[in-house]
Amino acid sequence: MKITVITGSPHKNGTSALLADRFIEGAKEAGHNLFRFNSAFEQVKPCLGCDHCGLGRNKCIHNDSMNKLNPKLLEADIVVFVTPLYYFGMSAQIKAVIDRFYANNYRLMGSGKKALLMATSYDDNDWTMSDLVSHYKTILKYLNWKDAGILLAVGCGTRNDIEHTDYPAKAYQMGKKI
Ligand SMILES: Cc1cc2nc3c(=O)[nH]c(=O)nc-3n(C[C@H](O)[C@H](O)[C@H](O)COP(=O)(O)O)c2cc1C
Repeated sequence: MKITVITGSPHKNGTSALLADRFIEGAKEAGHNLFRFNSAFEQVKPCLGCDHCGLGRNKCIHNDSMNKLNPKLLEADIVVFVTPLYYFGMSAQIKAVIDRFYANNYRLMGSGKKALLMATSYDDNDWTMSDLVSHYKTILKYLNWKDAGILLAVGCGTRNDIEHTDYPAKAYQMGKKI
């Protein structure tokens, strides 16, 4: 299967990058085709809401790294969102990418894709990730995509924290079994 992983952290070796690394390792071992897009290290301008694209009729007026992601997004069987928790939601970097789905909205909607969510946070309250998960599920409901797994690495504020948990191993297993 074709899997597109979209990360949202500006930390190259941070907590969520580790989950992405391990997931990709497992998925590659299982024989899948992987494409990784690190939002924070790409040029992704925010959607202007100009409606020039007509939600898919015309090309977006921005000319940036989305040109590279879009074909990989459209052909993917599975899209994996990997983000640190920022004020109880996803990071601005990955949100900017999702907003730019708008230019392919009708092609992405009902395309029958599967998706996964992986997220890391400092806090570990039972409500810490509630709004992020709710947002993710609502996006999937709208796009008619199916959830294929959620990994919430709470209580993982630093790389050292997460390395002492079984979340990286869980991410690897998610990739291996997808
Ligand atoms: C701008 C910002 C907002 C954050 N908001 C939250 C939050 O709402 N809840 C929380 O538990 N941790 C929050 N954190 C902590 C990060 O989610 C946490 O450190 C995470 O492990 C960082 O992931 P990364 O290493 O992949 O960047 C925030 C960190 C930053 C920089």
